[in-house]
Amino acid sequence: MSEEKTVTAEKGGFGSRLGFILAAAGSAVGLGNIWRFPYLAAKYGGGIFLLVYLILTVTFGFALMTTEIGIGRKTGKSVIGAYSSINKHFAPLGWLAAAVPVIILPYYCVIGGWVLKYMTAFITGNGTAAAGDGSYFSNFIGHAAQPTIFFCIFVALTALVVMLGVDKGIERVSKVMMPVLFVLIIGIGIYTLTLPGAIDGLIYYVKPDFSAFSIKTVIAAMGQLFYSMSLAMGIMITYGSYMRKEDHLEGSVRNIEIFDTAVAFLAGLIIVPSVFVFSGGDASALNAGPSLMFITLPNVFESMVGGQIVGTAFFVLVSLAALTSSISLMETVVSIITEKFGIKRIPACLIVVGVSLLVGMLSVLGYSNWSEVTIFGYQFLDFFDFVSNNIMMPIVALVTCVLIGFIAKTKFVEDEVEVNGPFKSKVLYRVMVKYICPICMLVILFSSLFMKL
Ligand code: PHE
Repeated sequence: MSEEKTVTAEKGGFGSRLGFILAAAGSAVGLGNIWRFPYLAAKYGGGIFLLVYLILTVTFGFALMTTEIGIGRKTGKSVIGAYSSINKHFAPLGWLAAAVPVIILPYYCVIGGWVLKYMTAFITGNGTAAAGDGSYFSNFIGHAAQPTIFFCIFVALTALVVMLGVDKGIERVSKVMMPVLFVLIIGIGIYTLTLPGAIDGLIYYVKPDFSAFSIKTVIAAMGQLFYSMSLAMGIMITYGSYMRKEDHLEGSVRNIEIFDTAVAFLAGLIIVPSVFVFSGGDASALNAGPSLMFITLPNVFESMVGGQIVGTAFFVLVSLAALTSSISLMETVVSIITEKFGIKRIPACLIVVGVSLLVGMLSVLGYSNWSEVTIFGYQFLDFFDFVSNNIMMPIVALVTCVLIGFIAKTKFVEDEVEVNGPFKSKVLYRVMVKYICPICMLVILFSSLFMKL
């Protein structure tokens, strides 16, 4: 891996292949890996879910990520500019994709604030206060003051890195945070596996339960993968536009996939066995939603020897994962503003901060002062989450596949991959983008609209 500096255009870019991979992996590795993946794996048959997920990663995920990074590097533009330069009739697709990070960033930072609060509690030795029946958590989010403060701190941390720029901010921070994250997750993983009873949990996690396999397993794995790889929201297009021409695209995508999947797998290795030990083998303790991370896990840490240290390490880990993801969200929006409106990075960043604070307050208040206000029966945060993940993102990915598969033709991306080496999985790529991915996206869209998984 060459570390030499050949940063492109004046808009800046990643200075090394490793920097790009770690920044993109930083975006991919987030709350989805640590919070959602373990729960889904436990629910959908353990090993069989892992297997399905792995197969989808190297086929479906690979094709979509290669497409986005390829589009970004080839056009050198932010998401709106990129889509309209491929085909001007597809400009609305760029706007739709751009709207996704605008919607996600504020509420992602609200949840990031919750994580910071728990990290602070564990660091200051108050982690045990968070254990119990869940009243600590409901008290915390039920009063707007503290969630607002932690939300603002999380936004400020994100903005600080983005303001420093792609190579001096994002790349530098990712090169430190991602290795630390990896070491932490391995360390906690090893420790939890030494707990008495953990091996039963491990077996439950990795042993395929074929009777739990159904089409739902595949749909759940597909939806998770899609979210986990930060696809269909312009992030990978933006990061691709900062990637050096001399770095191998296909190899980089493979590395990002490995990193993302390894972290998800290791998170499961921590969460499934430790919750198993704590609950005496009751798998239903692995329920989804905020309660797993903010109620069940503090109880698990409280019950284990050295739980204060493990809990601290765990919430530092989650904070790092969430921060590198929110950085990628903010960078995507900032890149659009600087390119579209000719505004410089720092003022553009301040605009994004202002808007995110305003919109994010809806999510904060949705759990406290305005908890009776709902949109179509959803609280603000859940509504933003539903619309972006279940509706907008599958549409963006579907139309992108149609654009690249049939209008611009897959050669558009293939040529970009081949700029510096052979495209080993070209045939797979072509079949995926033209036929399989669009069908998968339709299935995700359909299932999230009409089926409750
Ligand atoms: N990929 C991130 C995860 O796994 C989620 C994410 C979504 C990050 C949207 C950024 C933007 O948690």
